[in-house]
Amino acid sequence: MKYRFCGKSGLQLPVISLGLWHNFGESAEFDTVERIVRTAFDKGVTHFDLANNYGPPPGSAETNFGKILKNGLGVHRDEIIISSKAGHKMWDGPYGDGGSRKYMMASINQSLKRVGVEYFDIFYSHRYCPETPLEETVQALVDIVKQGKALYVGLSKYPVEKAAEACRMMEEQHVHCLIYQDRYNMVCRKPEEKHIELLNRCQLGFIAFSPLAQGLLTNRYLNGIPQDSRVHREGAFLHESDITEDWLIRARMLNKIAANRGQSLAQMSLSWILAKKYVTSVIAGVSSTAQLDDNLAAIDYDVFSEEDLRQIDALLGL
Ligand SMILES: NC(=O)c1ccc[n+]([C@@H]2O[C@H](COP(=O)([O-])OP(=O)(O)OC[C@H]3O[C@@H](n4cnc5c(N)ncnc54)[C@H](OP(=O)(O)O)[C@@H]3O)[C@@H](O)[C@H]2O)c1
Repeated sequence: MKYRFCGKSGLQLPVISLGLWHNFGESAEFDTVERIVRTAFDKGVTHFDLANNYGPPPGSAETNFGKILKNGLGVHRDEIIISSKAGHKMWDGPYGDGGSRKYMMASINQSLKRVGVEYFDIFYSHRYCPETPLEETVQALVDIVKQGKALYVGLSKYPVEKAAEACRMMEEQHVHCLIYQDRYNMVCRKPEEKHIELLNRCQLGFIAFSPLAQGLLTNRYLNGIPQDSRVHREGAFLHESDITEDWLIRARMLNKIAANRGQSLAQMSLSWILAKKYVTSVIAGVSSTAQLDDNLAAIDYDVFSEEDLRQIDALLGL
């Protein structure tokens, strides 16, 4: 594993982190969940990304991760970075969603209990909530750090100007915002437009989620839609309608470029992100240890020729 410093912090993260959004909840086989998490840790993946609502059902990924810690992994607590988040709907009623102090505080207490730890290493506001004054969400994050419930805090999916404002408010209270989390992959390049300036200005680390576009940027769908893939799972955000003929033509060409580089498509997709030095880490999701192993091999090939980059951009219409 390789590690990179996170923004101006002394904290290092593995360049590949493990995300537990799908495949790690109650609906997954617990033995598989545990095997993936333990294998990841054995291979140097020290960062596990959770949120209150990960499962399915919501909460169950945190509960399963807590069980794995209890089964033995917990003796390595000081070698592990656990993150969690609150921001999306978690429970019914007016206090289970958004950015209010009431929700943030109740949610982190619930999450700590499910995971069975005294603190999270990183706690995020999962999204910007336009109905909540920014000061209120920021104050909750600052207090979470001051109460020792999280060592660091981060922001996810905030509009750039709101993120910059939130970082400034935190600095005023002597809490540095550690990290910014957003979707970034070969297809979704939105963060390149404004975020790099934000990262520099606020000295944040950047962690990319959905680096494989939920499986589209892998070989998963090149020859049909496998029965056990995310597309067929209940409540997934990837649908059969996303696997268009037009996409498949492009994906197969990308696969050829990857093969010429001696990589799988998943590896090339991760390497492409890691080639950007402002990226601290990518959070990849997996459904098996085979996928994990495939992905981990990406870390040694993050150099791209101008021609590879040009071909990738041309194929993606960029
Ligand atoms: N902050 C936020 O709002 C936010 C939003 C989304 C995600 N996230 C974080 O980012 C993490 C990753 O997101 P994601 O799950 O959408 O990630 P992703 O890494 O883009 O896609 C993961 C899926 O790709 C497939 N895959 C992975 N490795 C593969 C390989 N080597 N070969 C073939 N297929 C492979 C698997 O699909 P199958 O399951 O079909 O096998 C896997 O479930 C989440 O777990 C979460 O921690 C954060």
